[in-house]
Amino acid sequence: MKKFITFEGIEGSGKSTQIKLVAEYLVEKNIPLLVTQEPSGTNIGRKIGGILFNREHHNMCAETEIFLFCAARAQHVREMIMPALKQNKVVLCDRFSDATYAYQGFGRGLDQEFIKLINDYSAMLLKPDLTLLFDLPVEIGLQRATERNNRLAKPSSTDRFEKENMDFHRRIREGYLNILKNDPDRFRLIDAARDVETIQKDVRTYINNFINLKD
Ligand SMILES: Nc1ncnc2c1ncn2[C@@H]1O[C@H](COP(=O)(O)OP(=O)(O)OP(=O)(O)O)[C@@H](O)[C@H]1O
Ligand SMILES: [Mg+2]
Repeated sequence: MKKFITFEGIEGSGKSTQIKLVAEYLVEKNIPLLVTQEPSGTNIGRKIGGILFNREHHNMCAETEIFLFCAARAQHVREMIMPALKQNKVVLCDRFSDATYAYQGFGRGLDQEFIKLINDYSAMLLKPDLTLLFDLPVEIGLQRATERNNRLAKPSSTDRFEKENMDFHRRIREGYLNILKNDPDRFRLIDAARDVETIQKDVRTYINNFINLKD
């Protein structure tokens, strides 16, 4: 059964907000569920994330970056995602391999063929069955992310990626749209500039239809 659903999009596009809301809805409907995220979906991944997002690591080269994300993914797939899918759970995952194509491919300029190789190896060839792409102008996404960080009273939590320049973020947005264009059946494109409730309606509809759940 097809049950591996990923949430993708630029910083501040609302992935975590939407995944939390739809997870509450699915739990209420008694759908067996794993809600998880990359790279911090495992203990090991959280530690790897600490290295990846640390603002002091501004000199990290793109090759180190991709190996670390894929190391976290290898652990995540084997420790969490595969076992959950085997138990017939629906898996909702906040970012997955498309993020590697978007960030390390379109953002950092690493070779797409190499990314495919390392992604496939890390993920044991596992691919999402459905991917929701939250799309909005980078200015809005970054503004939201900044306000969120300020609200958490931790302006210093702005991470290494959020600190990248606008051009980088625009390449990520275009990168995601490009990936969608090449795999349209798997994707649902969501206008993420709208309000939370309107977006959540779309998210529920797409997921309900996909797992054949009546509203
Ligand atoms: N549709 C929306 N309209 C206005 N604000 C929103 C909307 N969706 C989310 N937000 C707010 O924007 C901020 C960023 O949202 P969220 O953390 O869900 O984004 P994200 O895609 O998970 O970001 P990141 O890539 O940094 O993890 C949060 O403070 C959230 O409350
Ligand atoms: Mg998030």
